[in-house]
Amino acid sequence: MKVTVHRKAHFNAAHRLYRKDWDFEKNDEIFGKCNNPNFHGHNYELIASVTGEIDPETGYVIDVKILKDIIKSEVEDAFDHKNLNIEVPEFENLNPTAENIAVVIYNKVKAKLDPKFDLEITLYETPRNFVTYSGS
Ligand code: NI
Repeated sequence: MKVTVHRKAHFNAAHRLYRKDWDFEKNDEIFGKCNNPNFHGHNYELIASVTGEIDPETGYVIDVKILKDIIKSEVEDAFDHKNLNIEVPEFENLNPTAENIAVVIYNKVKAKLDPKFDLEITLYETPRNFVTYSGS
């Protein structure tokens, strides 16, 4: 019997979408306002979803405190109030789109979780735009 436990979190971060190997016109054509050289911010909403068997002894799939602490150290402390392009090493050569941010978050959280769990990351960049990634 597999159950999924979800934990929500939040961070604010700035980014600019562009490729260093393209000129401004090409970046402007592809990324539009997101290519603003002065950066812009988003209120990101994260949902980390952990799927596993219920432990018959505790009744938990995972103690939510463990998940909360992993999200704090791996996501909130690393990304909150940061400029993703400049201050977060994972994006030094990776465009910080919602898609890529979700993959980076997945990899960081997965590395700290017991391997017996399946993980899915849902990342809202705006209330209407969101992406999901579950490792495939
Ligand atoms: Ni943006």
